[in-house]
Amino acid sequence: MSRKIWVFDTTLRDGEQVPGAKLNLFEKVEIAQQLKKLGVDIIEAGFPASSQGDFDAVKAVAERVGNTSDIMITALARAVKADIDSVYNAVKYAENPMIHMVLGTSDIHVEKKFSKSKDQILQIGVDAVKYAKTLLPQVQYSTEDASRSDFEYLWNTIEAVMKAGATMINVPDTVGYAEPEQWGEMIGKLAYRMKNTDDSVLLSVHCHNDLGMATANTLAAIKNGADKVECTINGIGERAGNAALEEVVMAIKTREDIYNVHTNINTKEIMNTSRLVSSFMGLDVQVNKAITGDNAFAHSSGIHQDGLLKSRDAYEIVHPEDVGLEDMELVLTARSGRHAVKNALEKLGFTNLSADEFEGIFEGFLKLADAKKEVYDHDLYVIVEDYYEKHNANHANATHYSEQFFSFDDLQVVSNASFPSASVKVRKGEAVFKSSAVGSGPIDALYSAIASITNIDVKLIEYNINSVSRGQEALGKVKITVEHAGEKFIAKAADTDILKASALAYINAINSIIVSKFIPVAN
Ligand code: KIV
Ligand code: ZN
Repeated sequence: MSRKIWVFDTTLRDGEQVPGAKLNLFEKVEIAQQLKKLGVDIIEAGFPASSQGDFDAVKAVAERVGNTSDIMITALARAVKADIDSVYNAVKYAENPMIHMVLGTSDIHVEKKFSKSKDQILQIGVDAVKYAKTLLPQVQYSTEDASRSDFEYLWNTIEAVMKAGATMINVPDTVGYAEPEQWGEMIGKLAYRMKNTDDSVLLSVHCHNDLGMATANTLAAIKNGADKVECTINGIGERAGNAALEEVVMAIKTREDIYNVHTNINTKEIMNTSRLVSSFMGLDVQVNKAITGDNAFAHSSGIHQDGLLKSRDAYEIVHPEDVGLEDMELVLTARSGRHAVKNALEKLGFTNLSADEFEGIFEGFLKLADAKKEVYDHDLYVIVEDYYEKHNANHANATHYSEQFFSFDDLQVVSNASFPSASVKVRKGEAVFKSSAVGSGPIDALYSAIASITNIDVKLIEYNINSVSRGQEALGKVKITVEHAGEKFIAKAADTDILKASALAYINAINSIIVSKFIPVAN
């Protein structure tokens, strides 16, 4: 049986330290609920001594999410009585509460930050643990800046706080200075000594990503005996962030042959959790971010698409379904080859194309792909229709698909405090429609105006915009998620005019809904 690794999630504490990512009480509780669904063992809900608002939010998480014995709720304290009391008073409502305290062990922290001797700092830590133990049985002690600490002093501190009653020892690479091999060796030495002192105490690591090695360092620690890992969703956190939970968990799962450990994480909840955290905190996930980035399961090269269609394991080591996505995404671009286009056409129902027909359609595809960045399903219908109209107008595929799809023509948006309003001109096939609407903001007005033309009931779930290049010609990339009849549709568009990109994304979403309603055409 493989060893269990405890997962301690600090998205709501270290993650919330990202400038601008502050959450309100309700958002914290909702994310904590999702983290519980994800299966984390411990949630660090905040730093209650920092503000009354954070105290209240930690208390709410303890009451509403910590109400079952399968999860532990903690929060951070410095090694001072007032902070420890504050944590205790906030987390005590949980079934399984813990006090987490931090105190530096490196010379830089001891001498420069605290201007004290090493013995004095060690004693402060021991006294703080003894005090916390009078309040709760579970106490975690973090030796801040452990990776830059003198090893024997670090060990003396750990041994002393274990004797004082700490039940978990967390060893942080606070400034992301550690190197995997050296760090693994150090954790191995600590694990050995701790097991020989009291093997009921868990050894934990907390790695920062300043040199891009947080995940590698966390995994090196696991290999060398760490029992527990501290992570955040999407790797958010102070400065360059923390080890990303999804990366550590999926690395362990994918390379079980190397690590021979397991976690309690329900990996199918990873994407849901990532999206919730990203949208509540307003922090976009880097598109090429491992596991949770937009492109993590999107294949664009024609050679790769061909290989994947022959055998998925050719280019796929993690199945998108395992992290809660529906399927891999084959993005149709000018680089896509015949195999990928044929596969996309077959999915839409065009299964019996002759070689000549397919070649003609593929030619149309290449022309459009050269003009457009990405080719969508509704574009494929129009390409097929164009082909048959030119070559065999009586064929069933010459059906007027294009009459069913919407395309953007023009817009005007007025943004002011009293009457944000929008007017749009949209086509459906050859027909032209115009409409105007007011809204709570310019995008709301724009989407209301388009919705009054398309007449398809959708709820906007998520709207994201970011720049994909710099300078005056920067492209604004809009990504939206809408819900229609209980199903979610994601659509994207890019343009130098962000309002136009927003309109195009909405129209792409509407066209995807229309495509989903088409009955596959039998040739
Ligand atoms: O990075 C760090 O050292 C911390 C501690 C509070 C664990 O966040
Ligand atoms: Zn940290």
